Amino acid sequence: MLSSKRILLIIGGGIAAYKSLDLIRRLRERGAAVTPVLTRAAEEFVTPLSVSALAGEKVYRDLFDLTDEAEMGHIQLSRAADLIVVAPATADLMGKMAGGLANDLASTLLMATDTPVLCAPAMNVRMWNHPATRRNHAQLADDGVRFVGPNEGDMACGEYGPGRMSEPLEIVAAIETQVSDGPLTGRRILVTSGPTHEPIDPVRYIANRSSGAQGTAVARALSGLGADVTFITGPADVPPPDGVDVVRVETAQQMSDAVDAALPVDAGVFAAAVADWRVSSASDKKLKKSRDGVPALEFAENPDILKRVAHLENGRPALVVGFAAETDNVIEHAKAKRARKGCDWIVANDVSPATGIMGGSENAVVLISDDGAEEWPRMGKDQVAGRLAEKIANALTGQNP
Ligand code: CTP
Repeated sequence: MLSSKRILLIIGGGIAAYKSLDLIRRLRERGAAVTPVLTRAAEEFVTPLSVSALAGEKVYRDLFDLTDEAEMGHIQLSRAADLIVVAPATADLMGKMAGGLANDLASTLLMATDTPVLCAPAMNVRMWNHPATRRNHAQLADDGVRFVGPNEGDMACGEYGPGRMSEPLEIVAAIETQVSDGPLTGRRILVTSGPTHEPIDPVRYIANRSSGAQGTAVARALSGLGADVTFITGPADVPPPDGVDVVRVETAQQMSDAVDAALPVDAGVFAAAVADWRVSSASDKKLKKSRDGVPALEFAENPDILKRVAHLENGRPALVVGFAAETDNVIEHAKAKRARKGCDWIVANDVSPATGIMGGSENAVVLISDDGAEEWPRMGKDQVAGRLAEKIANALTGQNP
């Protein structure tokens, strides 16, 4: 529910603006108050009258409307909200935001605020893929702006690809994640996820079968409880959750660096299947077949990220959770691993092929902690994540499970 929450909704000028009318309805159904702002271009797609009728509030349109300044200045307008939502966030609006321009009401509000911002991008697929938009997207994510979508599909312009604005209910879900208070509100948690890719040469790499599904589910569940999640992911099969800070990496070394950059945090959940070794003799040119036979690869050990963070003298997270992928003697190996790594909890699972767990949608885990080994029944990875997130919330807030 969104009762007593105020959303400042900036509607940009794109065909997807029609969906923002439905978004207003959905938000109001859930008890939110919506202050609408229209850009000049947005007025070409939806009328101020329909927007204000649905919002039940005045529509703000012009930076230099002195009546508005007398009633409510643009600074106050932007700060009175619990969340600023930009939907549709056009390529133009994203460019202005990333560049720090403030030449109309929408961009000025976005510059004048310290309120969290959620963008729902919508644009033609080539505009979305354009290097300038890629840069702006990365810059905004770096600045702490959250994103929902865009989705992939048919576009109003007749093309196909990423660029469709998320559906109103998807945007509502992302808004709820952002503004609802949960037991983990105000807590920073990092989650590593997915496999790592260790290059052999520019076109080949060593990888593993991790899909990233369990780590992604954990990040989503923690964010759902209000945590501020930094999600550090290798090249996974599943997309990252909405509403978290996503840091994409390829190698174990990059993951290790990204973890350092995310510290300090209240808790770290290390769900990634990190490659233990990298090819130390990786070539910067493609290896060619030669008469001398097959190439001999030399390996070097990768940094053990979990072990390092668990042993930090300064800035160790209050709770460090590791995962253990085992194929035999699961509990015995996981207990030894917990001691070796120095983490507080280990979530152990049996990944032998017959279980179908690696790459599958279910998991059967044993949680190893000071309290011993707690066996959980086989359940969906989302449910495992939900239960783990609850336990983490209880541990961080000092409540008994
Ligand atoms: N891990 C890590 N950095 C590594 C290797 C593993 O952070 N270089 C973390 C994983 O994210 C996981 C835990 O350590 O939380 C255990 O990973 P796992 O692959 O099961 O254990 P290994 O350390 O690789 O031990 P082994 O290969 O002996 O099973």
